[in-house]
Formats: sequence, structure tokens, C-alpha cells
Amino acid sequence: MQVILLETKEKAVELTARVIAGQLQRKPNSVLGLATGRTMEAVYARLVRMHREEGLDFSLTVTFNLDEYVGLPPTHESSYRYYMNHHLFSKVNIDPRNTHLPDGMAADPESAGAAYDALIKDVGGIDLQLLSVGASGHIGFNEPLSAMFSRTRVKALTPKTVEQNSPLFRNPAEMPRLAITMGVGTILEADQCLMLVTGSSKARVLAKAVEGPVTSMISATALQLHSDCTVVVDENAGDLLEQKEYYRWIFENDPQWSAYQNL
Ligand code: GLP
Repeated sequence: MQVILLETKEKAVELTARVIAGQLQRKPNSVLGLATGRTMEAVYARLVRMHREEGLDFSLTVTFNLDEYVGLPPTHESSYRYYMNHHLFSKVNIDPRNTHLPDGMAADPESAGAAYDALIKDVGGIDLQLLSVGASGHIGFNEPLSAMFSRTRVKALTPKTVEQNSPLFRNPAEMPRLAITMGVGTILEADQCLMLVTGSSKARVLAKAVEGPVTSMISATALQLHSDCTVVVDENAGDLLEQKEYYRWIFENDPQWSAYQNL
């Protein structure tokens, strides 16, 4: 795992967007794993601008989202399908047929989960998986005690997650208590993981995720086991990290990041 600590949220978003853009330029038919939530809105806005102003091309891109609420149709304004259409898919030249989210309306969610994993495998696996972390330590909706080898399946959401996400519903009581999410094992199979975490409300959970022991109580710690995972954080989210100096040093000195110094 590499941690990149940047002064501002804007720089963290810019770096994240540039890594994604670089992936699409190197391999136009990349398979991207995508995330939702407030953190990602700025990343998608930046990618849309890159598409409009610099011609960033999504025509061959294939996407798989991490998760979806159970029981919300794609037309529901708080569904993740709606979020993705609104923030990214409708604003770039992606082929809608190449965009995938778990089916929250599936009559048989268990087989829908297995089918989702099979589809990811069929297209050759995810090249770059974008992630953030929830207040409960989840990646996707892998709530505490999600098995490290778990596959796409239905999970019950914790009260903490309900508290975090219900304000995003017009009627907060309407927020589903179940979601269908890629498993931790599914996520770890991506070639590369890129996690963006911003804001002081994430400082405690981020310190545990990055510097704490690997535990299924905080599924983000599983990323420590991944061989190519970068965590991009702003100063607010990184406030409780112990090795801040080291992370700053990595960004300034590792040649891998030399092209990103002018954020
Ligand atoms: C939801 C998603 C997660 C995401 C998290 C972060 O719970 N299921 O994949 O990481 O939100 O949310 P936010 O960016 O709003 O803090």
C-alpha cells in the first residue's frame, strides 16, 4: 500500500482523476471499478471536464460499480444507478451497455451476486478499482465482519452507515437497510486499487484502515493485503496518521509520482 498525503481536497481529487485518466489513455478499453458517495462527486466532475476540454475518451470503457441498494429501481433518485447516470455516464461518451451495477431489484439477489462476479471475470477482471471508505470502515458496503474472501452478495447495513447515508434520501426513513455489494474478495481481485479519502470526519477510520491491524471489523484494512493499492488523502483525512512525513516523502521522491507534482 502507498499513501499519498496532499494539502487539499482539490489536489487529492485532481491526482485521483489524473490516475484514472492515465489508465484510460494507456488502455482505452479499461475495466474500471467505480464507487459512489459524496467523495466521488468531485472526481466525476473532474473526469467530465477532462472529457469536454481534453477529449478524454470513454467510448471503449467498461465499468462495474461496487454496490447498489436493495429495492431501489434505477429511476429512484437515491439509487446508485441514478447517481452514476447523473454524475458521470450521461455526461461522457460511455456506451450505457458497458456500465454495470449490481441489480438491487433482482428477484434472487444471491444468484444476481454470483452473476455479477461471473461477468467481471468474463471481461477479464477489473483494471482499476476506485474506492472510498465509509464511517463504519466499509469498502463498497462490506460492513464489519465481512469475510476477506467474500463475493458479491447482500449485506445488512449498520446503524452507522444508515446515519451516514440517510441524509442523501429525500425521506431519510426510506433508506433501504440492505444493499448488494461486491465482496472484499471481489475487490481484492482488481489489478489496482485507488482509494480516495477526504475530510476530517474520516480521519479516525482512515488511520485504522491504513495503519491499524488487518481485521474484518474494518473491511478497508483488507486493502493492506493488495499488491497495488494507493490511498490518496487530504490533510484533514490524514490528520491522525502516524507516518505523515513518510507519506509526504513518498509523493515527493518516488519517481512513480514525478509526473503528478504540478497538481
Ligand atoms: C457509501 C458507499 C461506499 C462509499 C461510502 C463513502 O457507503 N457504499 O462505497 O465509500 O459511501 O461515502 P462518502 O463519500 O459519502 O463519505
